[in-house]
Amino acid sequence: MNVLLLGSGGREHALAWKMSASPLLTKLYASPGNPGIGRVGELVKLDVADHSAVASFCQEKKIDLVVVGPEGPLVAGIADDLRAWGIRVFGPSKAAARLEGSKGFTKDLCARFNIPTAAYGRFGDLASAKAYVEKTGAPIVIKADGLAAGKGVTVAMTLDEAVAALEACFDGSFGAAGAEVVVEEYLTGEEASFFCLCDGATALPFGTAQDHKRVGDGDTGPNTGGMGAYSPAPVMTPEMTERTMREIIEPTMRGMANIGAPFAGVLFAGLMITDQGPKLIEYNTRFGDPECQVLMMRLKDDLLVLLNAAVDGQLAHMSIRWSDEAALTVVMAARGYPGTPEKGSVIRGLDKAEGEGVQVFHAGTAINGGALVANGGRVLNVTALGKTVSEAQAKAYAAVDRIDWPQGFCRRDIGWQAVAREKAGI
Ligand code: AMP
Ligand code: GLY
Repeated sequence: MNVLLLGSGGREHALAWKMSASPLLTKLYASPGNPGIGRVGELVKLDVADHSAVASFCQEKKIDLVVVGPEGPLVAGIADDLRAWGIRVFGPSKAAARLEGSKGFTKDLCARFNIPTAAYGRFGDLASAKAYVEKTGAPIVIKADGLAAGKGVTVAMTLDEAVAALEACFDGSFGAAGAEVVVEEYLTGEEASFFCLCDGATALPFGTAQDHKRVGDGDTGPNTGGMGAYSPAPVMTPEMTERTMREIIEPTMRGMANIGAPFAGVLFAGLMITDQGPKLIEYNTRFGDPECQVLMMRLKDDLLVLLNAAVDGQLAHMSIRWSDEAALTVVMAARGYPGTPEKGSVIRGLDKAEGEGVQVFHAGTAINGGALVANGGRVLNVTALGKTVSEAQAKAYAAVDRIDWPQGFCRRDIGWQAVAREKAGI
């Protein structure tokens, strides 16, 4: 098969790495890709916003499958447009990608189909949103409705913070994404990421992970796209997984089919495991980054076989095998992230970092004058397998320490919750 992979992050490098191990793969193209992906595929320059240009490329290169990494193109309808040309795509339609593209859409779906989530209100103007917040009180959560590159959520511990967040949304801080706002109840519990592969009718559990959103050790500092992750998430016991499927995922699949927008692709549920059980925080309609990196390390099956089954509506006949080992990834970021990262510093020693059970996935890297340089905020994902999360953590940090990149930084406590559990013997 010839495959075109869209995207350029560590998530896409992990997908490329896993697909390249498949005997089904003839040739992998990636756009724009990154130097890590360039080791296993050919990088091509396509304007991803120009869906007919992408379709023409697919026809010319006889692409059998397009795999879409990030949410932006999905919400813009690239899957529908390519399918209209007869091209097979792994990823949801524009109507189904509203699960990520509009928080209000998802909340209304939850209300209609009885899916457990935080109580909420949707508002299109500041005055009515403010009135709701003042009536409900803090802590409370303010969310820009649309895609805001992970920056549209404020967990407000005081009323003043909540009002400031509402003002920022309606002042246009998030552009059109903030023209509507969801205000929701503050949930407490442990968070987990839960993934399913979906084919429109069947949702097949596809692993669990825990992310670390804050930039600093001890979960301090500003939010990021994710500074590290591990899999599996211990909080997702078989019982919790079964409840999540029955109470959240399956009603979502039925609801989406019911409204004429069946969901196919990766359904990524951000969950809060509360005293009352799992509640949906949000949906994403693609793999998580860096969660994908740890899932790909643990996946024993052929990824291309699974993606084909999802595209062909055959998931009901599939099962998935995972390594018994835990995987953990540490994100190395460029100084300045999540603000403006410094670009251009030289990175050495990746060959010394990789080894048995250790992979370094590239994210924001580039080649400049033959040298590997930083070219983004999150730059490398140093990923390791171990018998326990503690062992995977030790291997990942040993590999981090073999990388020669003085301008990079990382958190030193990725996996702390699971490591504490393992130390306590629970
Ligand atoms: P998001 O950008 O939607 O992933 O949200 C960012 C983070 O905000 C989540 O990972 C949670 O930690 C937090 N969050 C979102 N919604 C809620 C909620 N209703 N209650 C508590 N925390 C929340
Ligand atoms: N790591 C969180 C996300 O991909 O949305």
